[in-house]
Amino acid sequence: MNFSDLAKNRYSERYFDSRPVEQEKLDKILEAGRVVPTACNYQPQRFFVIRSEEAMEKLRAVTRFHYNAPLFLLVCYDIREVWKNPGDRCYENYNSGEQDASIAATTMMYEAEELGVHTIWVRGFDSKTVVDTFGLPEYMIPVMLLGLGYPNERAKANPWHFKRKPIGEFVTEL
Ligand SMILES: Cc1cc2nc3c(=O)[nH]c(=O)nc-3n(C[C@H](O)[C@H](O)[C@H](O)COP(=O)(O)O)c2cc1C
Repeated sequence: MNFSDLAKNRYSERYFDSRPVEQEKLDKILEAGRVVPTACNYQPQRFFVIRSEEAMEKLRAVTRFHYNAPLFLLVCYDIREVWKNPGDRCYENYNSGEQDASIAATTMMYEAEELGVHTIWVRGFDSKTVVDTFGLPEYMIPVMLLGLGYPNERAKANPWHFKRKPIGEFVTEL
């Protein structure tokens, strides 16, 4: 499938089968998150694999948006390794961490899609609860959870997937 079709066909999966994601596919997905561009090439993105019963129990305690996906990646950035722009006058103490981690998460999401693994991007959690529950060091900042797995027989796109603003609302030529 070419990239345009991949981008259009992807939707947020909320109906997962219990079938695990193969290690080879997970390795490819993580590799896609490794090779992304980052500000100044500082590479602050970090990925935590959640799939053991113990880790899954913790995950279910930090978000209700788990949809029983058999695998999650907790995507974070290490704030000690981000590019900073203290001179930015719109943002106080701007750092690139959230952008870098989001690029990695997005790239992994599309790599998964290409491998036939469905995904759900989850931000419905409290960062402090995630840090405490998984025992992350204070310099590790959670950005998102990427749920991964195969669709079950009820799988379908939510109506929101088909609701997009027209291109003119996004684009302005300056
Ligand atoms: C930053 C971000 C946060 C999101 N958080 C959640 C979430 O916590 N729970 C959830 O069910 N979906 C979440 N989503 C999925 C969106 O609801 C979904 O992408 C949007 O409705 C468009 O639907 P589609 O992905 O099927 O095209 C999130 C998506 C993004 C990009």
